Amino acid sequence: MNRSRRLRKNEIIRNLVRETRLAKDQLIQPFFVLEGRNRKIEISSMPGIYRYSGDLLLKAIQDYQKSGGKAGILFGIPGKKDLQGSQAYADNGIIQKTLKLIKKEFPDFFVITDVCLCGYTTHGHCGLVEGRQILNDKTLLLLTKVAVSHAQAGSDMVAPSDMMDFRVQHIRAGLDKNGFEDTPILSYAVKYSSAFYGPFRDAVDSTPQFADRKTYQMDCANQREAIKEARQDVMEGADLIMVKPALPYLDIITLLRHQLTVPIVGFSVSGEYAMIKAAARAKWIDEKSSVLESLIAIKRAGADIIISYYAHEVLTWI
Ligand code: PBG
Ligand code: ZN
Repeated sequence: MNRSRRLRKNEIIRNLVRETRLAKDQLIQPFFVLEGRNRKIEISSMPGIYRYSGDLLLKAIQDYQKSGGKAGILFGIPGKKDLQGSQAYADNGIIQKTLKLIKKEFPDFFVITDVCLCGYTTHGHCGLVEGRQILNDKTLLLLTKVAVSHAQAGSDMVAPSDMMDFRVQHIRAGLDKNGFEDTPILSYAVKYSSAFYGPFRDAVDSTPQFADRKTYQMDCANQREAIKEARQDVMEGADLIMVKPALPYLDIITLLRHQLTVPIVGFSVSGEYAMIKAAARAKWIDEKSSVLESLIAIKRAGADIIISYYAHEVLTWI
């Protein structure tokens, strides 16, 4: 029989036999950007995470790069919202302006952009609304406009998060037609309807004004459906697949790891951050070790890449 403790005797041997490691170049930090200058506003349900105006965002990115950060995902907070979410695809929209700013200052920084309408619509839904219906096919045209406008402004990778059917196919065609055949698509293919997005919706003020997102986001009870969603998005042209949230859905990450060959991204969402932050502030758990344990778990489950609000801090720890 094995004496398993032989391989746990000290840190050196434990590290020698360690199966999973966090890599600095596979972490992605989310950034929130808003209109104006010299603004830095903390998100109350996410202490330590800020919404920055463009000028201060550049500083935040610079700090992140100094810690070894290579890639970020950008979320915009528009100055005004309307029924069609037109600021999401406006030439001088918040994301489009900010992309140009970042790319001018830091051409090598890898910027992923979230493609959706919910932060830009008055009703807070991810698609066009008619009556109480969220329209699928009419939304595809707008999402394609969003993705193309991001690519034109310098986005390195577009990440549709709306959960409309066929959007990957439409976005791929739109990008190709406009000369962006080399811009990859990271599809939020497996996105569950989750209570853990709460703090994010505070951050960008995107809580749906009626009903909820259950007619387009996935039911948390479903596992087989994840395979269906992910396979279809790969067929439609997704280059990478995301599972979101991450920690409550590790089984899904593992399942997809065995089913797919594309890279898998785990998004450790705002609620996951808020839970650890709150417990750590109350001194109920140790922040650093619980964050590292959580991210290792996401890796161990099979994710190649992790998006985490702790990414910047983790870079300073590992
Ligand atoms: C927009 C979007 C959401 C998140 C990423 N893109 C919110 C939602 O679907 O309500 C969640 C991110 C997080 O909670 O950290 N569709
Ligand atoms: Zn959305």
